Amino acid sequence: MTDDLMGADVRPTASYTLRVNGFERPVSDAWIGESLLYVLRERLGLAGAKDGCEQGECGACSVQVDGQLVAGCLVPAALASDSEIATVEGLSAGGAASDVQQALADSGAVQCGYCTPGMAMAVHDLLQRNHRPSEVETRQALCGNLCRCTGYQGVLAAVQTVAEARGVVEEPVAADPSAEAAVPVAQPVPVLPAQSAADLPLAGEHPLYADSEVWVEAEPQPAAREYAATTHQTGVYEPDYSTPYYDPAPYDPGFEAPYETGRHEATPAHGTAADGPVGTPAHGTPYYPTPAHGTSFDGPDYDAPPVYDAPAYDGTVYDGNTPPHGIRLPEDDRA
Ligand code: FES
Ligand code: FES
Repeated sequence: MTDDLMGADVRPTASYTLRVNGFERPVSDAWIGESLLYVLRERLGLAGAKDGCEQGECGACSVQVDGQLVAGCLVPAALASDSEIATVEGLSAGGAASDVQQALADSGAVQCGYCTPGMAMAVHDLLQRNHRPSEVETRQALCGNLCRCTGYQGVLAAVQTVAEARGVVEEPVAADPSAEAAVPVAQPVPVLPAQSAADLPLAGEHPLYADSEVWVEAEPQPAAREYAATTHQTGVYEPDYSTPYYDPAPYDPGFEAPYETGRHEATPAHGTAADGPVGTPAHGTPYYPTPAHGTSFDGPDYDAPPVYDAPAYDGTVYDGNTPPHGIRLPEDDRA
């Protein structure tokens, strides 16, 4: 690490190596404040992660650091130098879309596409942790990924499609109200022949990430209280599986909103006084005659403002302070 505090550029810089999608990627003389998103895109040419908000709100920059989904815009790249980083470029093998990416495309979850890399990483991350996510769990997992095009239904469908295609058939959650029973039970997942990252083909210049090719054994699902889904922003989010996510009242077509008739009086007939001191004039009656054009208005209530007559300039030299209000300066008379 180099602290370049003596030259013109006083920002501290560092040289380090990032391990991205299984490959070492050196970074030289980078300001230590550069985000992982910036370094991936601008220094390493991995532009899959998108720059949406740069404040951890949109999820477009989602990548995994040591297997944990993070907002790349919030992680200083220099701090990730000892970590395993996975980006959306690592999802696909040999240039083909991964099953997650294909399902997103097939379900109409890709429209403008700006959110899609982050969404694909979030779905990938979810299905790594939970091979049979319920809709609620899927919504919770994707709550940090904003999409302004699709309405999310396509994303939800894509998650179910991938989960089913991977051989995990969703079973109804037990009616047991306890949180423990509500946690989905991990289903066996087919394990593909073991491959190392070095065995994987390259897609252009982009290295690949082994997890997209080798399905790891499903980890035992922890109890609800221990299950901590990390949010994109900060800290740990502990979903409460014992509480219904949303339980709307059934639609009642005969429902009528309570209407307090006493608060709303009928509009008075035209020309009829309502309750004010002055009634609405009959239609066609001028409320107060507008004076003819060019005629001075001299109605009884008209209080014409006095004509402003600024005092003459008294020769005071302007000293930088604002002169007293109303003092006319020489430049005023040039106009
Ligand atoms: Fe929006 Fe990072 S760019 S969360
Ligand atoms: Fe456009 Fe998601 S597809 S923002």
